[in-house]
Amino acid sequence: MGTGIIGIGRYVPETVYTNEYFEQRLDTSDEWIRTRTGIEERRFASDEENTSDLAIKATEKALKNANITMNDIGLIVVATATPDQVFPTVACQIGEHFGVKCAAMDISAACSGFIYGLVTASQYIENNTYEHVLVVGVEKLSKITNFEDRNTAILFGDGACAAVLSKVSDGRGILSFDLGSDGSGGEFLFLNDEQFIDMKGREVFKFAVRQMGDSAVQVLEKAGLQKEDCDFLVPHQANIRIIEAARERLGLPSEKVSITVNKYGNTSAASIGLSLVEELEQGKIKDDDILVLVGFGGGLTWGSIALKWGK
Ligand code: ACO
Repeated sequence: MGTGIIGIGRYVPETVYTNEYFEQRLDTSDEWIRTRTGIEERRFASDEENTSDLAIKATEKALKNANITMNDIGLIVVATATPDQVFPTVACQIGEHFGVKCAAMDISAACSGFIYGLVTASQYIENNTYEHVLVVGVEKLSKITNFEDRNTAILFGDGACAAVLSKVSDGRGILSFDLGSDGSGGEFLFLNDEQFIDMKGREVFKFAVRQMGDSAVQVLEKAGLQKEDCDFLVPHQANIRIIEAARERLGLPSEKVSITVNKYGNTSAASIGLSLVEELEQGKIKDDDILVLVGFGGGLTWGSIALKWGK
């Protein structure tokens, strides 16, 4: 038996901020944002809604979708760069909310965090330590966004996704993964002294275009598959042009690639899971489809998973 996702859920804050919001405040335009990034709108949480609140709402949906309760979970793994505070972790806050005392930890790998979380969880299941592991990717990036900096303010959004991982049958589940990092690129994307995201956009862009394609190809090779075997690509949603480059590298038609960056902007650790839920809801992913999930982010980090979908 393999390790797969048996339930998944997402949550985004209610309030939508269109590009017009930034047009009114910064030297930018809807046209620039759409053409350079593909973003049309994003959601920002209110002051009363913190990262843990987003995480709990996504978790409720994932548990329901998996048809289990929090008491069945052996470990909670939360990927986030924007916890309510460094400790207690968001994972512990989730446990407390649901009244359980299972193992719980936050991990930090920026936008690659959800992939790192899924891989981490799968190790505990494969070695029979836990039967069910909850993985959450969640961000309240509006907390660390400088709304006066047009280079970054327009890019980000808030959101959460949650997945329950368990043993699955019939050759389904995670087939292979690829994780990596290159600390020499740390200076291209970091939290500055003012606690805001600081970024050399062009450098991150070049890295992302190269690394997303490389990692996606590599993870398929590791699974003994060809590019043509990929039924659906779920990439990190940072910029439509980066996604397009990854799509071309795999030679996929556009209908086989998830695009949600237009609606949510870059939600970092939440973006891959958010996209996966959207595609499932729209019926674009079927049982036994081969999916490639691929992300990149601060660190610099990257990660990808080849997955045969289904319980
Ligand atoms: N509106 C108008 N003009 C702008 C804006 C804006 N919002 N932002 C930047 N510009 C200007 C720049 O100042 C620059 O002007 P200049 O030529 O006079 O200096 C010009 O537009 C072009 O800038 P570039 O950096 O070349 O624009 P590019 O096409 O590279 O797009 C972008 C910029 C969107 C940031 C792109 O580089 C990108 O997406 N990079 C990757 C970002 C990313 O994925 N980050 C991941 C972070 S996730 C995490 O881990 C938290």
